Amino acid sequence: MEKKTITIHLKVWRQKDASSRGEFKNYLVKDVNPDMSFLEMLDVLNEDLIKKDEEPIEFDNDCREGICGMCGAVINGTAHGPKSGTTTCDIRMRMFKDGDTIVVEPFRAKAFPVIKDLVVDRSSLDRIMSKGGYTSVRTGGVPEALSIPVPKENADEAMDMAACIGCGACVAACPNASAALFVGAKVSQLALLPQGRPEAARRVERMVAQMDEEGFGACSNHGECEAVCPKEISITAIARMRREYWKAMFK
Ligand code: FES
Repeated sequence: MEKKTITIHLKVWRQKDASSRGEFKNYLVKDVNPDMSFLEMLDVLNEDLIKKDEEPIEFDNDCREGICGMCGAVINGTAHGPKSGTTTCDIRMRMFKDGDTIVVEPFRAKAFPVIKDLVVDRSSLDRIMSKGGYTSVRTGGVPEALSIPVPKENADEAMDMAACIGCGACVAACPNASAALFVGAKVSQLALLPQGRPEAARRVERMVAQMDEEGFGACSNHGECEAVCPKEISITAIARMRREYWKAMFK
């Protein structure tokens, strides 16, 4: 049986570069297979634009499996779109109805300048990571099981925090454009494990200082970051970052 296709009206933010003025442009995408991903639908539109000798829409992507953190757009006002716990590349067109209008914009934040259309420069997050989001101590080979006891709850929570893919949706959703959930997750994943403790104080001090330097806003516990996080990271990460920060200040 032939699959029913849908027609979508798109309002997409087009912007040549960071210093140009952007604007929304309207497009009609016909014959959209509901099983297509959101990015595949944009691919179809881009093929059409190329055939018409128009500039295709630039958007970031890599794995298209929800694991690399490259994709990201604000879809109908929500970072990564209407489905919770899902990246833009994992949104399926069956979420929309025939004839729907979908508004697509880049992640917006001072620390994420637009490169082109939906592509933003998120290297500010990389610079925060370079200040301490790693362990530099030599840990040697894989230790014997239980040679470093780690409470199960800590191991589980560290794993949850390590799920952060650094997409920046938390920043885009926050009214203050704060990167606190991102930094909180990165600080927490190491703070919860023994291997991360030796550098914990230096790590949190340097990462928080870099976060401020990059122009991210302060966290006011709004909670939007948690609501849009495709990896469903809890804002308890932010509380832990604060605790680690104060511990570092008074050490
Ligand atoms: S393209 Fe990798 S998470 Fe979406």
